[in-house]
Amino acid sequence: MRKAIVMGASSGIGHEVARLLITQGWTVGVAARRTDKLTDLQTSAPERVITAQIDVTNSVADTQLLQLIGRMGGLDLYLHAAGIGWQNPNLDANKELKTMETNALGFTRMVDCVYRFFETNGGGHIACITSIAGTKGLGPAPAYSATKAMQNTYLQALEQLANSKHLNIHFTDIRPGFVDTPLLAGTSNFPMLMTTEKAAQSIMRAINTRRHVCVIDTRWRIVTYLWRHIPNWVWRRMKLN
Ligand SMILES: NC(=O)c1ccc[n+]([C@@H]2O[C@H](COP(=O)([O-])OP(=O)(O)OC[C@H]3O[C@@H](n4cnc5c(N)ncnc54)[C@H](OP(=O)(O)O)[C@@H]3O)[C@@H](O)[C@H]2O)c1
Repeated sequence: MRKAIVMGASSGIGHEVARLLITQGWTVGVAARRTDKLTDLQTSAPERVITAQIDVTNSVADTQLLQLIGRMGGLDLYLHAAGIGWQNPNLDANKELKTMETNALGFTRMVDCVYRFFETNGGGHIACITSIAGTKGLGPAPAYSATKAMQNTYLQALEQLANSKHLNIHFTDIRPGFVDTPLLAGTSNFPMLMTTEKAAQSIMRAINTRRHVCVIDTRWRIVTYLWRHIPNWVWRRMKLN
């Protein structure tokens, strides 16, 4: 039986992907800070769903993750969907630093922990929900776009490292465009907004076909391609809302 952990399964994309994994017969460890929605998932398949309350910004989160892997009796797939973000044009320091703490430090703590586990336990698959926001620095969301670019680069680095050591670790960097989740609550006018269900199905396809990098969806693939080719001297002068 295949075993997966979804970090950030209490809401949005992570919750929906966890639901699909459960439906497809996986044994699933679901983790986040809030446990009520995790319990809902567990109720749907009590014998195959294990919950854990984990805050990725906590220094003991890696130990808690290893304990969850132990409770599951091993791991094949780790999906990192935990993340926060805001539009923060006024540079509220608390928002910027919290985003760094969760999306950069918390991400590194968790992904490194799983990498080391797979290194000594025969390998596995690490998939992370990053974002198209890492394509270029975004004026209205400095910490969010910077941490997403960091995640993209970090995964690329880990994949090269794993290959150089001939480790059996596969990586999938999943970069969605706008998805209708609580992360976007309070702000409006998001173009080409996807439903959580549609995004989760595309994410499952990217994982099952072992893609290395996957922008979701096709429309966003075209946008990010064009976006990447905007010269820096133009980008510096563009006003984004
Ligand atoms: N929505 C979009 O348009 C969009 C687009 C591209 C990429 N993404 C990325 O997709 C990922 C999921 O976001 P979402 O849109 O699904 O948002 P969401 O509905 O707010 O879900 C975020 C998840 O992350 C968890 N989380 C946040 N901080 C955490 C922490 N310190 N420790 C453990 N878990 C934590 C939350 O659980 P608790 O609060 O219970 O801890 C929740 O389960 C994020 O990395 C986001 O950047 C989203």
